[in-house]
Amino acid sequence: MYNTPFHDQPLDKLTFLVTGGSGFIGSNLVEYLLKYGAGTVRVLDNYSNGFRKNLGLFADNPALEIVEGDIRDPEVCRAACHGAHIVLHQAALGSVPRSINDPITTNDVNVGGFVNMLVAAKDAGVKRFVYAASSSTYGDSKALPKVEDRIGKPLSPYAVTKYANELYADVFGKTYGMEIIGLRYFNIFGPRQDPNGAYAAVIPLFIDAILQGKPPRMNGDGGQTRDFTFVENCVQANIKAALVTNPEAINQVYNIAVADRTSLNDLFNILKEEAGSDLTPEYGPDRAGDIRDSLADISKAQRLLGYDPQIRIREGLQKTLAWFKENQTFIRESN
Ligand SMILES: NC(=O)c1ccc[n+]([C@@H]2O[C@H](COP(=O)([O-])OP(=O)(O)OC[C@H]3O[C@@H](n4cnc5c(N)ncnc54)[C@H](O)[C@@H]3O)[C@@H](O)[C@H]2O)c1
Repeated sequence: MYNTPFHDQPLDKLTFLVTGGSGFIGSNLVEYLLKYGAGTVRVLDNYSNGFRKNLGLFADNPALEIVEGDIRDPEVCRAACHGAHIVLHQAALGSVPRSINDPITTNDVNVGGFVNMLVAAKDAGVKRFVYAASSSTYGDSKALPKVEDRIGKPLSPYAVTKYANELYADVFGKTYGMEIIGLRYFNIFGPRQDPNGAYAAVIPLFIDAILQGKPPRMNGDGGQTRDFTFVENCVQANIKAALVTNPEAINQVYNIAVADRTSLNDLFNILKEEAGSDLTPEYGPDRAGDIRDSLADISKAQRLLGYDPQIRIREGLQKTLAWFKENQTFIRESN
């Protein structure tokens, strides 16, 4: 992975703080930054949904610093931001169903923790704060493709928290002169995405089921569509957002996707074909809080960040499938 750099300046004088760095997207950011010689890559994570094993891969790298702590604690955030130039804030409780089951904890982490991080970054004089926003902010808007300034009403507590992040980011940018960029991720997938547990995402669930020869469960009729985005594209967006100098690009939110629309049935068929499987899914009811269709307009990120997603869905699925096949033992390790 990451055989081509997405940046053209040296990273060796920079300290990056990756919150949620032991999770799926965070550990991919850590991998990229260490590969390209970032001065310090500090991770802040409480391992609630991340894994030590995801960072164990880079344990020998002296540039990696690991801080175990919770973003709900302002002092933890303050200590983690000390000396950091760039924050890539990924720590959150993901999953729409989790937020429906436990809106209080989702809010505490995703909103309270976010504000703690913003305040800590402000007080530490962090130069750039890039954060994981979400396509769930489009809510009940039926318009396609999704354009950044046309959103609907949130459909879940999770979506409320991610929209609240955008509102706080905007206010902190205006009030304290901070440089903040929000990246609205659209269904990111790839190596190290967790296939286990009640809140696993659809691609690792499907891959895991196929590799185990078990029919996966499909929520709804499988006709719902998503703009599935390989994690390398998401890392590229973070690096571009972290380093962009164009003032017009700062204090904005961006769609991060590929601008391809794939139904869940098509997704399953590609995976079956690639894996040589003849399984058929078991169809169940629709899931609460889910939208029917999603497709991003990515022209804003292309224009202002120079974002240029290189990997389309089939290639991303091939890479992800290959990784899952090669890492069956790793996937089953508990931490
Ligand atoms: N994966 C996607 O498709 C997707 C889509 C939209 C937005 N996002 C957002 O991207 C970010 C990363 O998502 P991911 O898919 O890598 O999820 P993940 O669960 O793998 O990673 C989240 C990380 O945050 C950590 N964390 C959670 N609560 C914490 C706390 N209180 N203090 C410190 N660390 C904490 C977890 O331990 C985990 O390592 C999240 O903010 C998520 O909401 C993801």
